[in-house]
Amino acid sequence: MHSDQLVRTFVEYYEERGHRRITGSTLLPPPGDSVLFTTSGMHPLTPYLEGRPHPLGKRLVNVQRCLRTTDLDEVGDATHLTVFEMLGTWSLGDYEGPVSLDWGYGLLTEGLGVDPGLLHATAFAGDGRTGPDTASVELWQRLGVPVELTVEDNWWPNGSGGPVGPCGPDSEIFLWSGDGPPQSTPTRDDRWVEVWNHVTMTHRRLDDGSLVPLPQRNVDTGLGLERLASLLQGTSSVFECDVFEPWRRLVPALWTLEEPSLRLVCDHLRSAVVLFGDGVRPASTGQGYVLRRLLRRVLTVLRREDASHGIEDLPEELVGHSSDHFRQDMRPGDVLRMLREEEHRFDRLLERGRRVLTRPRFQGPLSEEDFHHLHDTHGLPRDLITGLREE
Ligand code: SER
Repeated sequence: MHSDQLVRTFVEYYEERGHRRITGSTLLPPPGDSVLFTTSGMHPLTPYLEGRPHPLGKRLVNVQRCLRTTDLDEVGDATHLTVFEMLGTWSLGDYEGPVSLDWGYGLLTEGLGVDPGLLHATAFAGDGRTGPDTASVELWQRLGVPVELTVEDNWWPNGSGGPVGPCGPDSEIFLWSGDGPPQSTPTRDDRWVEVWNHVTMTHRRLDDGSLVPLPQRNVDTGLGLERLASLLQGTSSVFECDVFEPWRRLVPALWTLEEPSLRLVCDHLRSAVVLFGDGVRPASTGQGYVLRRLLRRVLTVLRREDASHGIEDLPEELVGHSSDHFRQDMRPGDVLRMLREEEHRFDRLLERGRRVLTRPRFQGPLSEEDFHHLHDTHGLPRDLITGLREE
């Protein structure tokens, strides 16, 4: 199933169940928000989860582009991306978690044709503060889906050490990606891939870590589009699903790269193009610095394979493909010009770095003070210094 069709099937299924589609936000959270980027579909909905009435009612569905810097080191494996799309549904003080899980199961098995025997669920086992999620466990037992109980992995976000804001127990749906019949459980075998998280948002976490009940019980679900598309399309990683089709076709023709580098380059360049489209420009702080780091990481990988490689040759088709997909209004020529400028800036920095690092002070092992000095006085970030010293 093509990812566009997957999105349509998802949205229509929830519209038939009384949900209204809301427009997804950009990657940039509203001013005053404490995080740099929209990291999940629920993020822009926080005020409504905390009790403000939503103009479109109590049942919502959407497609939200997200960016997670926390997953950067995992990009290149079979399932993680920097920018990805999350299909989300919400019950704002309306139906409860088991209804959401039952519908999710129905959509996966009947709507999308997943073999029920390839599903596994997890649910919250309870801790000293809140009890076990027996309602979800009973639902899974009734549906005949095996369920594993955990504490930390099934409290969203981030177990007991999560950030302030709405949170609660979640029940996650995993799909078997192995070749043979399913084995073991999601916490013990990573061929179980997490596809859909259903959070019953019951509490708000305060600054001191304590939990207070929310004025209403909500359900917040998130399903990673590329992950599910790749599982339904039977590809071995998200990078082979249809979302990456033009990247897989055009990038290897441009640069010869080993598979892990190819994945990283496709992920980071695509993410950078989406960031440009949402109005971010390379900078030395904040959102712009994340964009700059993505581009520098790409350049470092490309140059490692071949010193003459550069991103200025990126085909316009790839930029156009992203802006069409994310309905962004930018001219590919402008993006390519900004990529070129950033590449030149990086080259000047490399030159300066090589020069400075020949000084006697930097010949032996570097201390923390050296790293600070190189950063503050010469603008050389740590990863760049480390790379230059390995040359
Ligand atoms: N907020 C949950 C997540 O990001 C479900 O949307 O997984």
